Amino acid sequence: MTKARVVPEEQIRRQMDFIDFIGHMNRDKTEKNGEKCKAFTHTYGCQQNEADTQKIAGMLRDMGYEMTEDAKQADVIVLNTCAVRENAENRVLGNVGALAHLKKQKPGLTIALCGCMVQQEHMAEKVKKSYPQVDLVFGTHALWRFPELLYRTLTGDRRVFDISGDAEGEIAEGLPVLRDGKAHAWLSIMYGCNNFCTYCIVPYVRGRERSRRPEAIEAELRELVAAGYRDITLLGQNVNSYGKDLDLEIDFSDLLRRLNGVEGDFLLRFMTSHPKDASHKLFDTMAQCGKVAKQLHLPFQSGSDTVLRRMNRGYTAEQYQALIAYARSRMPGLVVSSDIIVGFPGETAEDFEGTLRVVRDTGFDMLYTFQYSKRSGTPAADYDDPTPQAEKQARFERLLALQDQCAEPRMLAYQGKRLRVLVDGESRHAEYPYTARTDGNLLVYCAGERLKVGEFADIVIEKAALRSLYGRQQEA
Ligand code: 5AD
Ligand code: SF4
Repeated sequence: MTKARVVPEEQIRRQMDFIDFIGHMNRDKTEKNGEKCKAFTHTYGCQQNEADTQKIAGMLRDMGYEMTEDAKQADVIVLNTCAVRENAENRVLGNVGALAHLKKQKPGLTIALCGCMVQQEHMAEKVKKSYPQVDLVFGTHALWRFPELLYRTLTGDRRVFDISGDAEGEIAEGLPVLRDGKAHAWLSIMYGCNNFCTYCIVPYVRGRERSRRPEAIEAELRELVAAGYRDITLLGQNVNSYGKDLDLEIDFSDLLRRLNGVEGDFLLRFMTSHPKDASHKLFDTMAQCGKVAKQLHLPFQSGSDTVLRRMNRGYTAEQYQALIAYARSRMPGLVVSSDIIVGFPGETAEDFEGTLRVVRDTGFDMLYTFQYSKRSGTPAADYDDPTPQAEKQARFERLLALQDQCAEPRMLAYQGKRLRVLVDGESRHAEYPYTARTDGNLLVYCAGERLKVGEFADIVIEKAALRSLYGRQQEA
């Protein structure tokens, strides 16, 4: 198998030169106007996109921009887009439409779109034709060239579009990152996806699976721990195939074990896993590694074997349930979440009953439920889809109601329990002024005199709601 191309260091250094050029330009502007140049970023979609935005923000910071949360104040606006469902795309286009007005008031404003939505040629074309307020468009493969692309946009008199890059993809190391929050950090371990589930656009816009070298991942983890991050999520579209493309004998379980050996008090999470590659070895490793959170996000998408086959998922509902049963046998109290698609083309009432059955039998702590959205270019876009939208909506609502019903006793069971949580922010609750996360990533509103953001604390759960818990710190 071919190894993913790592972007040569001199090319990354060249980007750093562009960061410096823009930095000089911004300093001149600041001297003239007496005000720092400002940048605004917004992320649509998944955690991988959030991690990418943090790289863009890191580059912007190094160019001398001050980050602002008010788009109206910004000199540069970067929207990192998502293509997974149509409503995500519609939201992006709606927001870009609204920016036309701002651009009129402030002609010096630079508007950039990047990420999965614009990596699709038809979307880049649409933006070129119908959204003249957008100055710069770059796809997922061009992320590391952002400094050069922005420089060309700022100094040239033409709009810049770059959605080049082949599907094999590359790995860019050494880009600056601006993380938000003090407790939690994303750590990408691989990029792309090879699974080609028939509904999914991701493999087309993010390219083939490519794993970062374990030493690069470990070095970044050490930096994060040294900087005080305590809750670190390893990211990949399908982390279970980590290492398959490397010239090393290493799989995801081996990587977890290696990272678990890094000194310090921190929690390791990971997402997303694919049931077809999740192995007993992985669950044994999780059970044995003290720093690995006892939390598993394992999307099953549908409880019907017919639908699973047509989705190209590579497992049956029974195999999925057996996996969860094994994971729970190794890790009692494991927090389990999943993704489900309702209304896949041709899903029958009976197929849907299968999904309800898996939900009822498995008992998930959290479910992320989606209505199927047709993505052009994917195989499922050509499948017959006779089910009326009203019927799909009714199924969707039944699923939500069932999940609420199942989650209630699971959440109530936490009352009175003592848990270790990581305090990660302040809340708007007067009585419970902090937010925290359990080992299983459940949200807890917390009270306690000695709580501190970024630190672990022992709390007792006082109340439970459907999607969150309420707890109080224990006396030392
Ligand atoms: N329509 C609806 N949901 C989708 N997902 C991916 N593609 C689609 C689509 N075309 C969901 C899957 C995946 C999650 C990230 O998004 O459930 O696990
Ligand atoms: Fe999409 Fe399937 Fe890859 Fe997930 S595993 S990103 S659903 S193709």
